[in-house]
Amino acid sequence: MIELAPSILSADFARLAEQVQSAVAGGGSVVHVDVMDGHFVPNITIGPPVVRSLRKATAATLDCHLMIENPDQYIPDFADAGANWISVHQEACRHLNRTLHLIKSHGLKAGVVINPATPVETLSEVLDVVDYVLVMSVNPGFGAQKFIPGVLDKVRKLVDLRATRRLDYRIEIDGGVALDTIPEIVHAGVEILVAGNAVFGNGDPKVNAGKLLKAANKVRLLKA
Ligand code: DX5
Ligand code: ZN
Repeated sequence: MIELAPSILSADFARLAEQVQSAVAGGGSVVHVDVMDGHFVPNITIGPPVVRSLRKATAATLDCHLMIENPDQYIPDFADAGANWISVHQEACRHLNRTLHLIKSHGLKAGVVINPATPVETLSEVLDVVDYVLVMSVNPGFGAQKFIPGVLDKVRKLVDLRATRRLDYRIEIDGGVALDTIPEIVHAGVEILVAGNAVFGNGDPKVNAGKLLKAANKVRLLKA
């Protein structure tokens, strides 16, 4: 099943609930929340209080993408605020196995994220722990950047490894997802599509989300 995860980074924060509800009405089933600390990435965004407010505004899955140093320090706060999924960067975790288990200990789905320059091989020892792998298709920090097509080789590797090792993680992609990039992304095997600018950048989030999902499902059906 393909899921669309509208990224609120490109939403109008003054009208956040309304914008999220609109994207969900268009078929977005996962709300992607980009958490940035100004250290791990060169930008600052939001924290647990916004997640707590979002929790009241929607029943959709809240997917918190932590682009922060020392994620262990904040995971309990995000869990308490109502996150359903939390992902952490391989590059930010000194004790990645421990951090992933910490997320799971709160009853949440645990994901690991790799930057464009980080190979899939660095995840070899945690693929049997994670619920999902998030492949960055831009360098994290900002919305509306250009998709890096080379990362799709990593998606294909993850698909193969999952079959060979009989694992069941899901594969998510983040950065530059739009109508023109969706065909190659879905064809490579991605199941969860994060999209910020393409949903909230211009026009109606409901209409935009609907179009993106329709495009993704079309490729999925052709592939099957
Ligand atoms: C980038 C963030 C993304 C971002 C994607 O650091 O992790 O989630 O919102 O934005 P678009 O879809 O605009 O490339
Ligand atoms: Zn993200």
